[in-house]
Amino acid sequence: MTICLNGWAGWALWGMLALLLAACGGKSATTPVDPQQLEVGKAVYTAHCAACHGSQGEGEANWKVPDVNGVYPAPPHNGTGHTWHHADALLLQVLREGSGVPNSKMPVYRDILSEGEMEAALAYIKTFWGADEVAFQRQLNEQWKEQNR
Ligand code: HEC
Repeated sequence: MTICLNGWAGWALWGMLALLLAACGGKSATTPVDPQQLEVGKAVYTAHCAACHGSQGEGEANWKVPDVNGVYPAPPHNGTGHTWHHADALLLQVLREGSGVPNSKMPVYRDILSEGEMEAALAYIKTFWGADEVAFQRQLNEQWKEQNR
């Protein structure tokens, strides 16, 4: 509960009070994780993602500012970034098909990684998040499921 109250001001800013209450109401703030999937995820992330997104998901410096060629640096995947603002479905879509950002250097992984490897990498990225981020993103996943039934 302390975690939920600490997060209160932040969530209210996002206009997500209802979501917060839902998150606090029922579910535990810890993610059920499959250790084997995390092993795979760590290996995939280290081999394919860490060079750009950082070994701890810290991203590249000044990631919001494109270089002279209009190429954006890699954003962080930790709590300071916006990965946790998106549902799994959208993040996996970015992994499969690329980000759609003009001049993007984010690779297309469709022919490089299996679905399971992409899901594992995403599961590993979630270990960079705090309990608030995990709970928030879980709600987004629920919402996405509701909207895409
Ligand atoms: C060559 C550098 C590079 C590599 C390697 C790379 N990325 Fe990215 N990634 C980027 C950049 C840059 C963006 C920001 C959007 C853009 O410019 O296309 C991005 C965006 C993303 C996003 C969407 C932004 C967000 O935070 O929601 C996700 C998710 C992502 N990357 C995951 C991964 C994963 C997982 C891997 C490894 C399997 C990976 N990336 C490998 C550069 C990279």
